[in-house]
Amino acid sequence: MLEVSDLTKTFSRNTAVNSVSLTVAKPAMIGIIGRSGAGKSTLLRMLNRLSDATSGQISFEGKDITTLKGASVRHWQSQCAMIFQQFNLVPRMDVVSNVLHGTLNRRSTLATLFNMYPASDVQRAIGILDRLGIAQHSPKRAEALSGGQQQRVAIARALMQDPRIILADEPIASLDPMNAQLVMQSLRRIHEEDGRMIIANLHTLDTARRYCDRILGMRDGRIVFDGTPAQLTAGVARDIYGADASFSEAATSTEIETLEREYA
Ligand SMILES: Nc1ncnc2c1ncn2[C@@H]1O[C@H](COP(=O)(O)OP(=O)(O)OP(=O)(O)O)[C@@H](O)[C@H]1O
Ligand SMILES: [Mg+2]
Repeated sequence: MLEVSDLTKTFSRNTAVNSVSLTVAKPAMIGIIGRSGAGKSTLLRMLNRLSDATSGQISFEGKDITTLKGASVRHWQSQCAMIFQQFNLVPRMDVVSNVLHGTLNRRSTLATLFNMYPASDVQRAIGILDRLGIAQHSPKRAEALSGGQQQRVAIARALMQDPRIILADEPIASLDPMNAQLVMQSLRRIHEEDGRMIIANLHTLDTARRYCDRILGMRDGRIVFDGTPAQLTAGVARDIYGADASFSEAATSTEIETLEREYA
């Protein structure tokens, strides 16, 4: 169980995340939506300790995450893997080595230095790539792959750590619709088949609705909506995006998408 209580992050006089509390009792697939600057990335970064909270607490299965130090932070980061909009692969390195980078946390400096990996790890990496439908690209340089394929390599690298949680910060924001769908389907499958918790910042309501069981809406650093896709009505969307109501209650998702674009 993941528990977040009163989590706050302040940058000088700007409160990016304002007293957020949240409980995830069992592995779920959660989407976070909200306009630009709402605090979505800051919240994810605090969850995996890329960024320290100003106040408040994060706990996972009863363990306080906020106070971890040194090696325990790195262990937590492998349990709570993060993927990014820009994939963060090593472009000139081959795909399988990029995936093997996911094991860095538990390798010796010497092995890392000489780029040595146990055969079992290499096999596992290829197995994961196969599962994501991209094993045939294993020997290619990462930069030779399409954006959607690169994002799946990044997911494979995360899976290499066998994480309990996968955090995804706008994982499909740079992808065309087809690749976006493939990446979201991969995340959904990983959630359903492996029982991993997925928390993804998403920039369209439609994607959050289609793939997530639970949606959090953030506005000005606070969670202003926490519910199912069905509960996310046009009125609620207006609340999250803070738009001056310019569309009807029966707004279609297309109207909401337009609204999102205007206010993003
Ligand atoms: N390192 C930082 N230093 C100062 N201010 C920051 C920093 N990171 C974020 N902020 C501020 O915190 C607020 C929340 O930013 P955050 O990046 O979390 O928003 P977001 O919801 O992810 O937005 P976007 O949809 O554009 O990615 C913004 O006002 C932002 O300017
Ligand atoms: Mg962001």
